Amino acid sequence: MVLITGGTGLVGSHLLLHLLEKGVVVRAIHRPGSDLRAVQKIFSYYTENASELFQSLEWMEADINDIPAMETAFKGIDEVYHAAALISFDPQDQDRLMKVNAEGTANIVNLCLANNIKKLCFVSSIATIGNGNYNTLANEEDPFLDQDANDYGRSKYAAELEVWRGSVEGLSVVIINPGIILGPGFWKGGSGNLFRIANKGYRHYPTGGTGFVTVNDVVRAMVKLMESKITNERFLMVSENLGYQQILAPIAKYLEKKEPAKPLLPWHLKVFCFFDWLAHAISGKKRKLTKEGIRSLTRTARYSNAKIVGELAFDFEPIFPTVEFCCSRFREENP
Ligand SMILES: NC(=O)c1ccc[n+]([C@@H]2O[C@H](COP(=O)([O-])OP(=O)(O)OC[C@H]3O[C@@H](n4cnc5c(N)ncnc54)[C@H](OP(=O)(O)O)[C@@H]3O)[C@@H](O)[C@H]2O)c1
Repeated sequence: MVLITGGTGLVGSHLLLHLLEKGVVVRAIHRPGSDLRAVQKIFSYYTENASELFQSLEWMEADINDIPAMETAFKGIDEVYHAAALISFDPQDQDRLMKVNAEGTANIVNLCLANNIKKLCFVSSIATIGNGNYNTLANEEDPFLDQDANDYGRSKYAAELEVWRGSVEGLSVVIINPGIILGPGFWKGGSGNLFRIANKGYRHYPTGGTGFVTVNDVVRAMVKLMESKITNERFLMVSENLGYQQILAPIAKYLEKKEPAKPLLPWHLKVFCFFDWLAHAISGKKRKLTKEGIRSLTRTARYSNAKIVGELAFDFEPIFPTVEFCCSRFREENP
């Protein structure tokens, strides 16, 4: 039996569907407040059997930081996909990021070792790969650069170190490092922000860029890596390196909104950052933009996918059909 963490999120819900359609017996953990209906909604985008498939999986309530609950979740498990994480760029979440992403992953690794798990697949991020510049593509060998990182990146790097520690202690592991993952249904965070921003019809765009990949490619690669003999390796998952304008403009077009045409200048971002900080200081509102945020919006980082293409003969799907699919779902769900 396979255990999945993060099954109620973008990656986990697509992974659940992919595995269930292959006939794999799956247990997924969720926390008390999780929205399980969101998972069934994701299934229904792709199959008429959504309800049947959803019924066929076993849910268990557990937080990855709750060791006794996780010990129960590991009973009878052979393989583990660890996709649960906190994704936040709010400086106030620094401690929570380390608790969930680093300590939570250490718990998963320890439980894998204690339960003789055959293989662990960990979903990391491009945030742990030292950034290339416009002329060179970053690859799996590029070390994490703390001076360029934000708290989320630091917590994912600490999590990766736990996974490598597990591999040294005898656990078979594979790690994937996806770029921004494009997929439907989760509009309030991650790549969902791109759809919400484009839907507002802003005229300005951030000048930086990064790597993008579709959620279905991410889950296909995870399963292929788990089925392969490959172990103790990490793989970048980036289908295309694009500037933010190159992704926001087509989204705006599909959503029938104005396309962003003017670059956001550094002083625009600094002014926005100041007022954002002021609103936070006065009313406690969650920060939307920080200094690290400005850095990642203005920096162009590009990544190579040569390793996964070479080792798995992996065939990436083009991202724009997925972008169009996401836009139609977004329009239906946000009339
Ligand atoms: N989205 C991206 O663009 C992107 C890019 C690169 C890498 N990643 C990585 O990909 C993975 C999946 O991301 P995603 O986009 O699917 O995230 P997501 O949609 O935000 O889902 C996060 C998942 O983690 C679970 N979770 C959070 N804290 C937990 C805890 N303490 N105990 C148990 N479960 C917990 C959530 O479950 P609940 O229902 O209990 O909240 C949810 O299922 C993460 O590791 C992330 O770092 C994401």
